Amino acid sequence: MAEGKTNFAIVGLGGRGRGLLDEFLDVPGVRVVAVCDKYEDRAMEGVRIVEEKTGETPFMTLDYKEILRRDDIAAVMIFTTWITHARIAVDAMRAGKHAAIEVGGAASIEECWQMVRASEETGKYCMLLENCCYDHNEMTLYRMVKQGMFGEIVHLEGGYRHDLRDEICLGRENRHGRLFNFMHRNGELYPTHQLGPICKLIDINRGNRMLTLSSITSKSRGLNVWLHDNKGDDYDLADYPFCEGDVTTTMIKCANGETITLHHDCNLPRPYSRDYVIEGTRGIFKENSHGGEIYLDSLGEKGHEPQWQDFAPLREKYEHPLWKRYRQEGVHGGHGGMDFLVLSAFAESVIEGHEPPIDVYDTAAWMAVTCLSEQSAAMGGLPVPIPDFTNGMWIDRAPYHRGIFCVNEVCEDCFEEENA
Ligand SMILES: NC(=O)c1ccc[n+]([C@@H]2O[C@H](COP(=O)([O-])OP(=O)(O)OC[C@H]3O[C@@H](n4cnc5c(N)ncnc54)[C@H](O)[C@@H]3O)[C@@H](O)[C@H]2O)c1
Repeated sequence: MAEGKTNFAIVGLGGRGRGLLDEFLDVPGVRVVAVCDKYEDRAMEGVRIVEEKTGETPFMTLDYKEILRRDDIAAVMIFTTWITHARIAVDAMRAGKHAAIEVGGAASIEECWQMVRASEETGKYCMLLENCCYDHNEMTLYRMVKQGMFGEIVHLEGGYRHDLRDEICLGRENRHGRLFNFMHRNGELYPTHQLGPICKLIDINRGNRMLTLSSITSKSRGLNVWLHDNKGDDYDLADYPFCEGDVTTTMIKCANGETITLHHDCNLPRPYSRDYVIEGTRGIFKENSHGGEIYLDSLGEKGHEPQWQDFAPLREKYEHPLWKRYRQEGVHGGHGGMDFLVLSAFAESVIEGHEPPIDVYDTAAWMAVTCLSEQSAAMGGLPVPIPDFTNGMWIDRAPYHRGIFCVNEVCEDCFEEENA
């Protein structure tokens, strides 16, 4: 390996993979020595990105197993389609490499267990790159909750509400993976953007766990209307009976009594929102189009009807130290800066050799919500049990790594040490 650098490989160079590759090359200590996509033009585009940024030419292949045969690669970044994430991660861990996977849900409980087993048996990490755990709002709210400002947490809501009609419907033309999932699957297909931060907030897999879920899906109309309007009545998919309902609502019950409601909503016209809601015994936060609004008992005037307050001033006051430092140094990269933070978190764990902040148990539990939701929806919303991927260890887990990227605690002292 080049002095001071650790070697990584990239698998999956669609739009997301290419964007993340470019950002990943800016993460300190990272060297990308191999790129792979099953489409040659996309793999070549990966080569071009690395060459342009570093002057080095990475190994290129259309078969990720060729990457796994190399012994100079520490970790594989998997930016492929949803139904390929887990199998590539399992193969990577079994070949002695750490794995990071882009977000998406699992197709089966079996593949979640395979990830857990592969990680436990090889000692290799498997981190879901849930960037929303590192977003500015989410990190600030995490700090406020951990300081007790919301009292005891009772109920949480969130979702993935994103008008993706063109991306889904043009999946064949653009060689994009979402279309086939929406044609054949029905349920909470993309749970982790809000579920990840929610699970970290209420210590899922560390003193708490998700017990059951129930999903109900609406009818499917939005994609057909979009196709008629944009591709014409004769287009072959215009009247296709898409499986995925336009809106899926999922309810989860946790061992410590909290409830979680998730919405998946990508087929209808609407502005983007993750609709984050945190409700505790001492206050409530609600995301809105300006960031959010909040009511806390401690901020309200005694004897008056509770009134919403703008969240922005509190976000400044209670900002997470990681974001304070990040803003001072210069926020960069996609999705408001959170992508660079999640990539940095995984890279640090590989380079320094410690468990990542989102571990294989988090990855399995969050991804499992998708296939369980499909099962529940198929049975009209019948509750289904959520497996305990820690096998009972959620009651008594080994300590996590404390550090600046930790999302199991706000490690304020780690920032103080850095500043000392
Ligand atoms: N975290 C975020 O904010 C965010 C944003 C966008 C996309 N994503 C996620 O990133 C992932 C990729 O998204 P995308 O929009 O680029 O999708 P895409 O379908 O355009 O690209 C996926 C790429 O993976 C490649 N691929 C699939 N199987 C492969 C295999 N076995 N070997 C090699 N290459 C393979 C495909 O050829 C394709 O180029 C998805 O999981 C998506 O949900 C996350």
